[in-house]
Amino acid sequence: MSDSGKTLWHGRFAGGPAEELLEYTVSLPFDRRLWPDDIVGSRAHVVGLEHVGLLTPGERDTILGALDVVHDEMMAGSFAFLPSDEDIHTAIERRVTEIAGPAGGKLHTGRSRNDQCATDLRLWCKRELRSVAARILEFQKVLLQRAEEVGNAYLPGYTHMQRAQPVLLAHHLLAHAWTFARDVDRLLATIERLDVSPLGAGALAGSSLPLDPAFTAAQLGFARPFENSLDAVSDRDHVAEALFDLALIGIHLSRIGEEWVLWTSEEFGFARLDDAYATGSSMLPQKKNPDIAELARGKSGRLIGNLTGLLTTLKGLPLAYNRDLQEDKEPLFDAVDQVRLALGALCGMVSTATFVLDRMAEAADSPTSAATDLAEWLVQRGTPFREAHAIVGALVRRTLAGDGGLAELVAADPNLGPEAAALVAPGVSVRRRTTPGGAGPEPVARQMERFRSHLERDRARVHVAPVR
Ligand code: ARG
Repeated sequence: MSDSGKTLWHGRFAGGPAEELLEYTVSLPFDRRLWPDDIVGSRAHVVGLEHVGLLTPGERDTILGALDVVHDEMMAGSFAFLPSDEDIHTAIERRVTEIAGPAGGKLHTGRSRNDQCATDLRLWCKRELRSVAARILEFQKVLLQRAEEVGNAYLPGYTHMQRAQPVLLAHHLLAHAWTFARDVDRLLATIERLDVSPLGAGALAGSSLPLDPAFTAAQLGFARPFENSLDAVSDRDHVAEALFDLALIGIHLSRIGEEWVLWTSEEFGFARLDDAYATGSSMLPQKKNPDIAELARGKSGRLIGNLTGLLTTLKGLPLAYNRDLQEDKEPLFDAVDQVRLALGALCGMVSTATFVLDRMAEAADSPTSAATDLAEWLVQRGTPFREAHAIVGALVRRTLAGDGGLAELVAADPNLGPEAAALVAPGVSVRRRTTPGGAGPEPVARQMERFRSHLERDRARVHVAPVR
């Protein structure tokens, strides 16, 4: 093994590591994407070392210069990794030392990969979780735009997957948009809580050197430094939280996926996908399949798996750092990637699809879906609701038994009559949903206004990094 191929811990060991050990323990294949954060973290550490007199300004600048070279090599894709580069931290320190000579050997002063990798991952989470939130905002915008555009179109609302009462399509679309507002909120809360710098915790116990964790925390733009070095290097709560947030987003996406699988079926026929967002069959020439919707439904499985996998890894881990913690990265990276991809694909699918509004209206206009309106009509005239329910229920039973159309039976009923029969006419029922937050045109117009301002506020929260 070449000199620069030595392990970071070679001094205490008689020989080099076994091939199988390296193969099994390396994390470079997946943690290399932390390189920008590792460089940022190292810069702050180096500036911090000079700040407390552990480096001369000259040494600091030499190391910062070497980190710039590493940055450029990474950007250009010309950084040469060695087989002995166990992880991204090892690789960058090794290269800095090659470039900076003896000053490079001071980069790791007072630092351990334990506080280093914890710092890098928190920097990564702050940026990437915010970018997931930004993607959600884009999807919410698509849902809002579609809601605005469909006006007072309506479809059946379902309970138990049985037609229940008609609702505006805009109301239905906004229901999903509000769901995602909670997801944005959760991501921002997770970012807020994880905004702690572990740098300066060392391997587990801090240092005999005069390090200043508050100074490096501020350099890195963290809200605060760690309170306890053991906690700082072993805490992965934020990864678990992020995985929960992402799993729940995945579950929300899966519900939309299922809905669109149904809506685009011949049986429902509520929506048609744009050709660019549908797939065909290799054997059946007539097929047009909603694969995006299906994968949005299906991939929730691995997102939940990523969360439960990490929780299981964390369970029972003694303080402080254990190599088990290296298992934090793959599920997190996968979850972020998958959710980002899903949101992009669903934005395209929903924004380009055609709603088949007459099919929706036809399905919603079955006379019995106005049954509750009939009962409420009676209530407004003094009939106790339970009695009204029974009167209308009996009419529904008769119409289903073939005694006549519901409007006809209502018109002839002594309790109801022709005025009530008008409620059964197409398009009437949905207009009667007038209460705040309800599914009819008046409350939905107000709701849409509220959602628009909510989205504006969230845009400011997500895009404008808080000034510390
Ligand atoms: N690759 C390791 C990880 O991601 C870095 C820390 C290794 N620390 C150690 N003492 N071996 O967790």
